[in-house]
Amino acid sequence: MILVTGGTGLVGAHLLVALTKENEKVRAIHRKSSNIKDVKKVFSYYFDDITPYFSKIEWMEADITDTPSLKKPFLGIDFVYHCAAIISFHPKAYHKMRKVNIEGTANIVNFSIAQNVKKLCFVSSVAAVGKSLKNNPIDEDCEWTVENSNYGYAITKYGAEMEVWRGTQEGLDAVIVNPGIIFGAGFFDSGSGSMFKTVNKGLKFYTEGVTGYVDVKDVVKVMQQLMNSNIKNERYLLVSENLSFKEVFSQMANAFEKKPPNIKVSKLMSEILWRISSVITAITGKKPILTKHSAQSIHKNNQFSNAKIKEAIGIEFIPVSETIKRVCKEFKR
Ligand SMILES: NC(=O)c1ccc[n+]([C@@H]2O[C@H](COP(=O)([O-])OP(=O)(O)OC[C@H]3O[C@@H](n4cnc5c(N)ncnc54)[C@H](OP(=O)(O)O)[C@@H]3O)[C@@H](O)[C@H]2O)c1
Repeated sequence: MILVTGGTGLVGAHLLVALTKENEKVRAIHRKSSNIKDVKKVFSYYFDDITPYFSKIEWMEADITDTPSLKKPFLGIDFVYHCAAIISFHPKAYHKMRKVNIEGTANIVNFSIAQNVKKLCFVSSVAAVGKSLKNNPIDEDCEWTVENSNYGYAITKYGAEMEVWRGTQEGLDAVIVNPGIIFGAGFFDSGSGSMFKTVNKGLKFYTEGVTGYVDVKDVVKVMQQLMNSNIKNERYLLVSENLSFKEVFSQMANAFEKKPPNIKVSKLMSEILWRISSVITAITGKKPILTKHSAQSIHKNNQFSNAKIKEAIGIEFIPVSETIKRVCKEFKR
């Protein structure tokens, strides 16, 4: 039996689609507050009639930070896909992220060991991979240091990886994937999905910053292939292409038949904007539009290598332009 955490999120929902195509039953945990309707919406992007597939999911209520609630979901489990996490760049979310991302992962690892789980697949992030020396593309061997990546989300994803590696020392077989920004249909009000919503509304601004992007379908495909292989105790960067924000926003604008962004945001403008944003947040309590970290990261040129995963399983990634066209079409639906 397979267990999925984070099944009510972007990666987990698309993973459940793929797993229910291939398995008779899949167990997924959700919280009381989770919106399972959004998962059904994701299934509707794949199937005209979702019932034969969606009904294969055995939903159980659990919170990864609440150890007793995990006891029942882990009974009879052989394989665990751990996708649950909090993603935030808001400094105030740091303690919650430590609790969910690090302690929550430690709980998943401990239950996996106690229940003799055959293999765990953990979804980490490029944020938990270090900088490259000499301007080479960043790869899995680049050492992460708190001095170079000292923002909350990165610290907690790195801390979560440490829990998984600790588990492997205690006998657990595990694989880790480190995706770049993941694009996929659904969840357009949050995370990477909100980029589509913002561009559809008409985004005028861009930066020349570069980062890696990957299709959720490829993330799910790689996770399944790694789980079904003999590979263990390795981590893999998942990036189809490294592109500038200007390029990505322009491709989205073209797909939505909107005017591409044409005002370049300079580093100085970003520095001023995140300070204004933090003052507004302090007064209104609303989420900041820009944080110190996000203001800096949108100008960075981060190039990631996908050579290791290509060599391991021979995957050809979906080009980002194809992903953007498909997701924009699904957004309009
Ligand atoms: N999206 C990206 O671009 C991206 C890029 C790189 C890596 N990642 C990683 O990929 C993974 C999945 O990301 P995503 O985009 O699918 O995130 P998401 O859409 O925000 O979903 C997060 C999931 O985690 C669950 N969750 C949060 N706290 C929980 C808790 N205490 N107990 C149980 N479940 C909890 C959420 O449940 P509720 O529905 O109840 O809130 C939701 O199902 C994460 O580990 C993330 O760090 C994402």
